[in-house]
Amino acid sequence: MLLEAHSGSRYLVLLLAVLVIGYAVFGMATKRPYDKTMRILATSFTGALDLTVLIGLAHLLTSRGFYPQLAGHIVMMVLAVAVAHMVSVVVRRRPLEQRTYAPHLVSALVVLALVSFGILSIGKPIVG
Ligand code: HEM
Repeated sequence: MLLEAHSGSRYLVLLLAVLVIGYAVFGMATKRPYDKTMRILATSFTGALDLTVLIGLAHLLTSRGFYPQLAGHIVMMVLAVAVAHMVSVVVRRRPLEQRTYAPHLVSALVVLALVSFGILSIGKPIVG
């Protein structure tokens, strides 16, 4: 049950990563001022990641097995969460007029790569 929830919430993370990347590219290409939609998408992305991590931890603590590849999975995901939170804090500390789309684009791409490697490290498909 927890494993299914953990496995399923990855799609929310992946979907929000794609939306963050798409909106950041759109914002940069059209040179529009940084707006609320970007902030909401970035916060939702970080929240979905946190939720997936929490369910993953709950599953880890309540399930029987730990095997070596799982360490790679966990390290990648902890790095992904750290990157997402660091960038979100850095952007939020800037005054509104100094905020830009680029940090969101870069961090979502890095997080997406880490999450993908993390999933592949336990021999599971990124999607499917
Ligand atoms: C510290 C954070 C995390 C912990 C402790 C954790 C823990 C786990 C554990 C214990 C499993 C079960 C492995 C197995 O039974 O073979 C698992 C599977 C998995 N995890 Fe994580 N996880 C974390 C973060 C994430 C994140 C952030 C994602 C995706 C965004 C993710 C995606 C997956 C997927 C797709 C599976 C395979 C599920 C399946 O068998 O269908 N995990 N994780």
